[in-house]
Amino acid sequence: MTTLHPTTHDVRLVRDEELRAAYDLFGAALLHGPVNDERWERAAGLYAPQRTIGVFDGSGLFGTAMSFPVEVVVPGGAALPTAAVTRVGVRADRTRRGVLTALMRRQLDEAAAAGDVLASLRATEARIYGRFGYGVATRGRTVRIKRNGGSGWRSGAPAGGDVRMLTADEMVPALGAVHERVGLARPGGMTRTRPWWDLGLGGLLQERTLVLAAVHTGADGEDGYLVATVDDSGGWHDRVLVLRDLHATTVEAATALWRFALDVDLVAAVEARLRPLDEPLELLLADPRDCATTAVEDETWLRIVDVPAALAARRFAAAEPVLIAVHDAVRAANGGVYRIADGGAERVGELGGAQTPDLECDVAGLAMAYLGDRAPSELAATGWWRAWSPAATARADAAFGTDRLPWCGTNF
Ligand SMILES: CC(C)(COP(=O)(O)OP(=O)(O)OC[C@H]1O[C@@H](n2cnc3c(N)ncnc32)[C@H](O)[C@@H]1OP(=O)(O)O)[C@@H](O)C(=O)NCCC(=O)NCCS
Repeated sequence: MTTLHPTTHDVRLVRDEELRAAYDLFGAALLHGPVNDERWERAAGLYAPQRTIGVFDGSGLFGTAMSFPVEVVVPGGAALPTAAVTRVGVRADRTRRGVLTALMRRQLDEAAAAGDVLASLRATEARIYGRFGYGVATRGRTVRIKRNGGSGWRSGAPAGGDVRMLTADEMVPALGAVHERVGLARPGGMTRTRPWWDLGLGGLLQERTLVLAAVHTGADGEDGYLVATVDDSGGWHDRVLVLRDLHATTVEAATALWRFALDVDLVAAVEARLRPLDEPLELLLADPRDCATTAVEDETWLRIVDVPAALAARRFAAAEPVLIAVHDAVRAANGGVYRIADGGAERVGELGGAQTPDLECDVAGLAMAYLGDRAPSELAATGWWRAWSPAATARADAAFGTDRLPWCGTNF
């Protein structure tokens, strides 16, 4: 790979007046045309001060990446400051010469300086971000539930509460408030900002003729919601309700919302992408084969920016102590031997020092286990981690284990 030449290229923060050009550059990298004024008004809000980086030469901007500040819930319930990384693109005539590499390094420095403990992103392609220390931290499945002469719920499936549809004007303010209560229930949950809602749901309302949104109220108040649109590309008789967002704190609330979706008349099926892998849909249906899993994909990629802080903030399950050596080729300060014991973790030594680790991983491998998506034993068995003792690996499995699989559920 040719590398960027520091004297002819400038890697710097993008100024406010350059943001629209940065957005268009990102759009073009995704093979979209330039943004119109209406869309730009919504998209601009997501840019946060001092968080957009550009690579420039005499001809102008040709690479960009940005992040906006959110919090991500980690096992134990702490919400950690996180850079939500997005709008990454390099002009097609400047790819494969280190532009992204320069952007990622600078972005990690900026994130660390801003106090972000984590960085999270969704990847267009799975081979891009591992080299910068990102690992798949949450996954999801695409499901398609066909309407089998009605919604086909198993008798005995949980039921109850009330589902109330919202008007278009109610949606953004009402769902923002409900998400704050219900969207952070499991590890991986991510806070949403008002600009996110204005762009995410506001943009959907702008583009679509029909958006359905409903809130579930259970015994303890509002405990879930959904947002859906209709895909009629298959024709009138094969219309599909596309569930775009569904969060609920209880199985009862989730079931009531799925039941609502499946009871909407004149659709042949309900589809949803990137649902939690442990959502028990098949257990709720009279015929479990009505629910087909059509894909399982990575959802979010996590980069642990500050390993000591991230490990200290996460709660570990009770287990005998285990020593893990963590390597970080990009941010060497994260390297060290960490002791996990009594539900917590701390750095106890330097790499190559007196402490002999039980397990060893790099920062991307650590990210894959950090929220509870992958067990250390499966990571060791596949070469992502190195394990020096089977007993210690079992202890690490116990320590990293979580009650529920992590899941984000927020597209950004
Ligand atoms: C993905 C993208 C940002 C990469 O930018 P880039 O400047 O070409 O990346 P770099 O030159 O810094 O690449 C660094 C390394 O990653 C590799 N790499 C980069 N993109 C890759 C891809 N899409 N698939 C596989 N490898 C890739 C490079 O080959 C290089 O490897 P090497 O060091 O072994 O030679 C750019 O191709 C792009 O804009 N793509 C379209 C938009 C997009 O997908 N954006 C990501 C949004 S999440």
